[in-house]
Amino acid sequence: MSISVGIDKIGFYTPGLYLDMAELATARGEDPNKYLIGIGQSRQAVIPPTQDTVTMAANAARQILTPAFKADIAMVLFGTESGIDNSKATAVYLAHLLGLSSQTRAIELKQACYGATAGLQLAADYVRVHPAAKVLVIGADVARYGLRTAGEVTQGGGAVAMIVAANPQILALESESAYHTEDVMDFWRPTYRTEALVDGKYSTNVYLDFFKTVWHDYQQQTHRTIADFDAFVFHLPFTKMGRKGLRQILPEAQPEQQETLKAAFEASQEDNRNVGNLYTGSLYLSFLSLLRHGQLAVGNRIGFFSYGSGAEGEFFSGRIQPDFRKGFDDAALTRLLAQRQRVSVAEYETIYRSQLSDDGRDTQLAIGEETASYYLAGRQNQQRQYRQR
Ligand code: COA
Repeated sequence: MSISVGIDKIGFYTPGLYLDMAELATARGEDPNKYLIGIGQSRQAVIPPTQDTVTMAANAARQILTPAFKADIAMVLFGTESGIDNSKATAVYLAHLLGLSSQTRAIELKQACYGATAGLQLAADYVRVHPAAKVLVIGADVARYGLRTAGEVTQGGGAVAMIVAANPQILALESESAYHTEDVMDFWRPTYRTEALVDGKYSTNVYLDFFKTVWHDYQQQTHRTIADFDAFVFHLPFTKMGRKGLRQILPEAQPEQQETLKAAFEASQEDNRNVGNLYTGSLYLSFLSLLRHGQLAVGNRIGFFSYGSGAEGEFFSGRIQPDFRKGFDDAALTRLLAQRQRVSVAEYETIYRSQLSDDGRDTQLAIGEETASYYLAGRQNQQRQYRQR
């Protein structure tokens, strides 16, 4: 008999600053409803220079790691497209910061916003072969498009940390999945750039086409239909994107089920709407949002659509487990989001421009406002200086 493998715990971190999207719209000469309704974003995380993908991942992982768990972690799979080094993996910095055993594999995975899904699927396959092992899977990014660009409203940042294990508390993954890769230039970031290049409208179309393809392939593979699902979660670079995805398949459902799926989508976009884009963590923040705000029951089947520009898409599914509420700290997440401070557009622009420079010089960052457990204190001798309080 095959063992049950999937997501045992989920942690999430985003920094303590946000920008109001109605305010940004006004500053950019747009109607606020374009951002609030047309794009579907209310707030956007603002990332101070003292947080990067490594520290955000450490702050997310900290929520779910106990000493016993740490000892069992065999592998760290870190999905990111905004890593801090072209050679050394963010996963190695992270394993050190978290105090994991040196008998750990630690690797960084990159395929735009698909990286964390690659991590999740590779982790699940590993645990199927080594059922006593636990794998820490990370999706962490800073989504930066540039001031006054069309993509500015779809920025954000944060990290999702997941433990993949046998007999998981939250979600048992089903082993079938459908994936699709094509060489497409819809969004990319050459190594000499800090902001992505994107053809947003083209990317939206590729996303929807890939969803159609993998949803169709998944149905052929499994002989399941939309009637077998209780909710769908989507990669959400902005919440309207997932809404378009759901609309594409809703006509396949009976009217009553359409209402259930729409309500589940509203729950799944709630936290993303207030954080913005996490790139590769976005799908998993959306799943966490569904867990937190949705009306889920044990055994519910959830469909996941993962998309990474460039481009790769995957559709897979999992079933909600009896102890799913024990796998995340709902109160801590509510506090994390509620305690954030609003910054003005002028303050956001200053923070945007004050990221660690790319000239390699020694830098000491002002850490007065930083309250996170793990933070970046600066750079010395070309090395990032990470600290824990
Ligand atoms: N009230 C309500 N809705 C409004 C509105 C208003 N006053 N004004 C505009 N809108 C709607 C538009 O109708 C449109 O909706 P639709 O997409 O359902 O047709 C939406 O708001 C966006 O308007 P649009 O003119 O298309 O916006 P834009 O040219 O500024 O670009 C993106 C929007 C999303 C393409 C752009 O932000 C982008 O490129 N983001 C990056 C996306 C990305 O990273 N993709 C790759 C990863 S998947």
